[in-house]
Amino acid sequence: MDQIVIHGGRRLVGEIPISGAKNAALPLMAASLLTADTLSLSNVPYLADITTMAHLLAQHGVVLHMNGNAENGSPENSGHGGVIDMRAETISSVVAPYDLVRKMRASVLVLGPLVARVGEAKVSLPGGCAIGTRPVDLHLQGLERLGAEIRLEEGYIHALAPRGLTGAKVVFPQVSVGATEDLLMAACLAKGETQLLNAAREPEIVDLGECLIKMGAEIEGLGTDRITIRGVAKLNGAAHAVVADRIETGTYAIAAAITGGTLELIGGRADHLAAVIKVLNEAGVTVEETPRGIKVQRSNGPVRGVDVMTEPYPGFPTDLQAQIMALMSTAEGAAMITESIFENRFMHVPELTRMGANLNVHGASAMVRGRPQLTGAEVMATDLRASVSLVLAGLAAEGETVLNRVYHLDRGYEHLEQKLAACGADIARRRAPV
Ligand code: EPZ
Repeated sequence: MDQIVIHGGRRLVGEIPISGAKNAALPLMAASLLTADTLSLSNVPYLADITTMAHLLAQHGVVLHMNGNAENGSPENSGHGGVIDMRAETISSVVAPYDLVRKMRASVLVLGPLVARVGEAKVSLPGGCAIGTRPVDLHLQGLERLGAEIRLEEGYIHALAPRGLTGAKVVFPQVSVGATEDLLMAACLAKGETQLLNAAREPEIVDLGECLIKMGAEIEGLGTDRITIRGVAKLNGAAHAVVADRIETGTYAIAAAITGGTLELIGGRADHLAAVIKVLNEAGVTVEETPRGIKVQRSNGPVRGVDVMTEPYPGFPTDLQAQIMALMSTAEGAAMITESIFENRFMHVPELTRMGANLNVHGASAMVRGRPQLTGAEVMATDLRASVSLVLAGLAAEGETVLNRVYHLDRGYEHLEQKLAACGADIARRRAPV
């Protein structure tokens, strides 16, 4: 198993290209199930989760060509900003098996498209994960509103709509990114009008909706909490470039801040990071838009402590909570960080503490008392964003940090070591000693 080794204390200076968003690419790939024509996605990041989704789609009968090579779901030749062509001419299986779904919860996004296209889906229940129990009840209730019959059998969700789905008003009791995406896709092929109320507003949902519109869908209200979809009989193929990853952008913005450096994040979108930029500005970090992206700089003294609460978009993203905690661990003063989306997303706290951070968790909040200097340590993490927060802490820490379980990072950060090393970080991947 690989490790990442960091010798901290170097200011990062330079530019980092921002990849396409994993969390946009995954639902966009699932949307290929909605049409018999080719959906061509560009700017797709080369990540383990993308490969998992490709495998899942392949076993539903989707023929995938990645960067021009027919691969049946193994994108070895995929590099930065890959192109994936997907053609679901026939759906050969409606089953999403446990082995693939347990690897990646986003697999549940095939549910809505399969029921809408062929009237049946059998998708393994995902089970819990490191950041919480993460039920899928909102996906199921929404599909039931559109007329699907849902049975839970032997660990599987069996959804049936033999005569197709019918548009309806779906009021989400809680904002859910995944449920909004699943229902948005399903409603495109339902008969009549669907309204999604209290819908999620994340840029990844807007990106999905824009691609669906290119495929012939009739959608209004993207980016608001009320999305209206008028179902059509069939969708066409389309070509679409995946939106820039706002979480990767925010992570590298924090890398600039925590190392006292200057980074230009090429392709980064300030308009997708307003809540994060506000926190960084209050902390004393400068963020400016440039013709190519955004430039982040901390040059005047330590970061100041700022309270942060995660919220659905446009609030501060839960996917940057661990990273901002690493930054606040080095701040002058204290910061209260509150996680309001997931009930168990503080798994990075004990590991950051091993690096010298002063953190106290009370329920959904962590009190962070900044320290002038973190120290390197051997650490491990349980999920993607927790892992990258330890990388950020390692970049600022004195001495050597060794990060175990690197496979978490490979799920969501394309070429992480190369991107950081190109800006002066002392970071390398090696095989863990046995
Ligand atoms: C998406 O997960 C992201 N994943 C997550 O990214 C992100 O943390 C999350 O949205 C919140 O922004 C992808 O886009 C692939 P939710 P999702 O449904 O869709 C509860 C990362 O690191 N809920 O918005 O699964 C749920 O338990 C990650 O890249 C229900 O109760 O998140 C949570 O508390 C991990 N019932 C809250 O809603 C449901 O049916 C928000 O979850 C669905 C969700």
